[in-house]
Amino acid sequence: MSRILVTGGSGLVGKAIKHVVETEPEGSPFAKRAGEEWIFASSSEADLRDPVATEALFDKYKPTHVIHLAALVGGLFKNMKYKLTFLRDNSLINDNVLRSSYTHQTSKVISCLSTCVFPDKVEYPLNEEKIHIGPPHDSNFGYAHAKRMVDVMNHAYKEEFGCNFTSAIPTNVFGPYDNFDLEDSHVIPGLIHKCVLAKKNGTPFVVAGTGKPLRQFIYSYDLAKLFIWMLRNYDDVEPVILSVGEDEEVSIKQVADAIVKAVGFEGNYSFDTTRADGQFRKPASNAKLLGLVGKFEFTPFDQALDETVKWFVTNYDNARTGSKK
Ligand SMILES: NC(=O)c1ccc[n+]([C@@H]2O[C@H](COP(=O)([O-])OP(=O)(O)OC[C@H]3O[C@@H](n4cnc5c(N)ncnc54)[C@H](OP(=O)(O)O)[C@@H]3O)[C@@H](O)[C@H]2O)c1
Repeated sequence: MSRILVTGGSGLVGKAIKHVVETEPEGSPFAKRAGEEWIFASSSEADLRDPVATEALFDKYKPTHVIHLAALVGGLFKNMKYKLTFLRDNSLINDNVLRSSYTHQTSKVISCLSTCVFPDKVEYPLNEEKIHIGPPHDSNFGYAHAKRMVDVMNHAYKEEFGCNFTSAIPTNVFGPYDNFDLEDSHVIPGLIHKCVLAKKNGTPFVVAGTGKPLRQFIYSYDLAKLFIWMLRNYDDVEPVILSVGEDEEVSIKQVADAIVKAVGFEGNYSFDTTRADGQFRKPASNAKLLGLVGKFEFTPFDQALDETVKWFVTNYDNARTGSKK
């Protein structure tokens, strides 16, 4: 009998894992197996910043495995404004989850880092060896340091207590159940919401920047499968980058074009080149992942985007959109 506790089970990635384990056909390597119980915890069930609440959650479920996704996440503005809160909240959450996993003799923990944790000044492509070789970008100083400490703690737990704790490093994730807030969201959900509104209101669709920067995006359902693969097959403390290949970078213009097509927007569409672009590219290598997992079929970007747009339009009233609609 395995009891798999997914912290952050109500978020973008948590909902994707739930979807995949519940909908994959029998026989699929990602389907729920006989004897498995999956628990998806949200912050309303336990505030993981609180050690007592965290212990109570572990006492209640006694998980054999943990996929630890819960985190205070946010866009650039929020990260810059609340550096200490990002550092403290995430450090507390991570320390409590790893500590309770240890005290409850959980046989495996996979924690979620992010490619944001990598050094600001670094040679590309990013790979698993480069996490600690320089300071992170100042804009996500708190979040990045808290996440880096998970890797440090995983090694310390292994060395002192022999724990099987490891971490995954996804690139930019998108999919159903994302945060579609117009101001505090990632680029894809933010642009989808903007384009849907432009269509509804008959207003222009304006994309900030030149559209030239390149990014690697992973569909949340593909990421979910890779977490399930890690849970079942990967027992090393060293992290693994979970990403599409470097040859699958897409430009922000390609993203915006695909959104326009998926939304069916026919109005005025342009780029506001007076707005900052951010870094041109920051490719991450998925060589380690592919070497371990063998062949993995990533969902084509346009198809994943189309599914995400359809989900957002269908679930508009319940999607996370902040207060501005
Ligand atoms: N989205 C990306 O592009 C991306 C990229 C790389 C890495 N990641 C990482 O992936 C993981 C999941 O992110 P996501 O995109 O799914 O984020 P999300 O949609 O914002 O979900 C965050 C989850 O964390 C939970 N949470 C937040 N504070 C909590 C607390 N104090 N106690 C308990 N639970 C708490 C939330 O619960 P409630 O909703 O119930 O409050 C929610 O389930 C995070 O570790 C993030 O750093 C995300």
